[in-house]
Amino acid sequence: MAHIRPEKYIWLDGKMVPWTESHVHFLTHSLHYGLAAFEGIRAYVQHGNPGKGAIFRLNEHTDRLFDSCKLCLIDVPYTREQINEACLETMRQNGLQAAYLRPLVFLGDGSMGLGAMDPPVRVGVAAYVWGRYLGDEGIAKGIRAKISSFGRNNMQVGLPKGKISGQYVNSVLAKREVIKAGYDEAIMLDGSGQVAEATGENIFAVIRGRLVTPPLSAAILAGITRDSVITLARDLGIPVAEEPIARDQLLLADEVFLTGTAAEVTPVREIDDRSIGSGKPGPITQRIQQTFFAATSGQLHPYSLWLTPI
Ligand SMILES: Cc1ncc(COP(=O)(O)O)c(C=O)c1O
Repeated sequence: MAHIRPEKYIWLDGKMVPWTESHVHFLTHSLHYGLAAFEGIRAYVQHGNPGKGAIFRLNEHTDRLFDSCKLCLIDVPYTREQINEACLETMRQNGLQAAYLRPLVFLGDGSMGLGAMDPPVRVGVAAYVWGRYLGDEGIAKGIRAKISSFGRNNMQVGLPKGKISGQYVNSVLAKREVIKAGYDEAIMLDGSGQVAEATGENIFAVIRGRLVTPPLSAAILAGITRDSVITLARDLGIPVAEEPIARDQLLLADEVFLTGTAAEVTPVREIDDRSIGSGKPGPITQRIQQTFFAATSGQLHPYSLWLTPI
């Protein structure tokens, strides 16, 4: 999961830089204080055309990157079109069709201190091959999750709608805690004990035939996979509700799955040592997962608008 194979180039501040030379200075402001915004985007090989890839929901990811920067009071020194093109060009220059893309907007070196308003705004985009984030077995058979002792960053301590680097200390602490305890992923509650999300994924539960996920007013990231899954489910005729889920409702749900660019649609088979439903991916989870992968690989015509050819 952790190791990545080096590629040839990283797009950095408007230029293609060899992968091994994409260094930043030790006094890079964001490295010390965490004010930076990033994205995680996937590109998929298109069905029946192994030499052709497409980036999934590129415009929405770029829009969210700009939203995150707005929340951070960072002006991005490029247009949305230039960031989209940087992502596409990084894929092309590395000869990649299927990959994980990582744009990052960060504050460079030259000024230190929390109040520094003038560090240069720098932008990079990397692309690399990344398999199933929660494992091949996890995506096929489901993962074991644990509710974290860490509450989710909430609106009084952060801005969860932003994909802001420093906010991920909260996620990394939760993730490390559960990995050490032998689980695959952590689920985080908000300040009032309602389910928020996992460390890098949104959460869905099937409760009495309805697909339920916390609303966007909760302390969650507005996941683009979450949005895709809601659309796909509604189009499949599955009732969807965006409403709070209590901890005990989650443990008693018939099915649970996580959604994210990295984790895609990953079933959860166990939470806090209780089996979810039969302990295997349930029928609604399987339908959503199959439909999601059909959409990302260009097999479902109505969703081809979500794909930007490389
Ligand atoms: C905290 C958090 N929640 C949810 C998600 C899922 O968002 P998306 O589906 O846009 O990748 C992510 C991943 O970006 C995340 O980091």
